[in-house]
Amino acid sequence: MKLEVAFTLDSGPNADAELEFMVASEKEFEEIMAMSEGIYGGMDYLPSRYHSWIKEPDRTVVLVKKDGEVIGLQSVCIVDGGETALMEGLRVAPWERGKGVARVLQQFCAELVRQRHPGVKVARLTRDDKLGPKDFLKYRVITKQAILLMKFNARDFSLRLRDIVAALRGSNRLPPALLLEKSEVPAVVLDPVFIRKVLPGQTIIQDWQPFQPLASNLALLLKKELRWMVDSRADPLVATVCSPPFPIPKGQDWVYLNVDVFGQDFSRIQSQLLAHLQNRIQTLEGNVMCELFLVPELWEAMAQFCTCVLKVELAKDYTEQYLLEYDI
Ligand SMILES: CC(C)(COP(=O)(O)OP(=O)(O)OC[C@H]1O[C@@H](n2cnc3c(N)ncnc32)[C@H](O)[C@@H]1OP(=O)(O)O)[C@@H](O)C(=O)NCCC(=O)NCCS
Repeated sequence: MKLEVAFTLDSGPNADAELEFMVASEKEFEEIMAMSEGIYGGMDYLPSRYHSWIKEPDRTVVLVKKDGEVIGLQSVCIVDGGETALMEGLRVAPWERGKGVARVLQQFCAELVRQRHPGVKVARLTRDDKLGPKDFLKYRVITKQAILLMKFNARDFSLRLRDIVAALRGSNRLPPALLLEKSEVPAVVLDPVFIRKVLPGQTIIQDWQPFQPLASNLALLLKKELRWMVDSRADPLVATVCSPPFPIPKGQDWVYLNVDVFGQDFSRIQSQLLAHLQNRIQTLEGNVMCELFLVPELWEAMAQFCTCVLKVELAKDYTEQYLLEYDI
């Protein structure tokens, strides 16, 4: 379906091009997958999410087409009780990159939000590429997290993990890692002290998606099969959220596992990470890319722990995830 939004292209290589903006449907799935080959280091989440994304009532997956061919995509999702547009999944076909398509697509999406969702005040996005001076003028940085990406074979690692956990438990070096029932999550996460002291930028960032700590957002998050852990229900210093594993385009037997860490106490984080891994690994056999997001100050120590104690391989060096915001 064509998106009818009053929008004029500014000057640039695409000013005269016949660009059309459409709402994505099942029909374009293969074309989008072909255009997305190789992105995010083989860890693209779109193949797993596309079919549900196009059905979500508060989300519009916007396609840009040139001569009838899909050349770009960005998803716009309204969150935070209608006040924020979450921009996700941005990509441009490799043969159209460097010509301003991403810029035009982002301008179009902002205009779409202005015209269709007048209650939205800001747009938010997460990025892990190197930001330049221009970006810092364009965006407010809400927070940044360090990214630690490790890879392992689930079957080999699960045997090793059992012994490591037993040894650490034996020497009393594992603080409690309490799994929350879904019904327990809102009371912990919406607590003002937790929001202020534990959440980075007072935001729940779950697998690249930032949410304000609001009941409406938690209702969305609780629909996902996430595992939430804390060190204490009454007064948590650390909370972690682990996503269910999903297949990634990297290879036939590869899955992606995401762990978001809120809080700064290293031994509590360690303990919760081990508990998440132990739980998720039971159902896995092949290769796992596990991405952990944590405060930058702890990256080095966690990298040491992962390589020296867990004996897993790091898939990349230190990188950062930025949570950015701009006015609509
Ligand atoms: C990143 C990508 C979308 C840029 O597309 P492009 O059409 O070549 O980009 P343009 O020619 O419009 O020029 C870059 C513009 O996009 C912006 N941009 C670059 N990367 C961006 C990102 N990750 N998120 C938002 N905007 C981005 C730049 O700031 C610039 O905007 P400006 O002109 O207003 O300063 C494209 O290279 C791509 O598809 N890469 C693979 C997928 C990917 O990495 N996506 C990013 C998701 S975080």
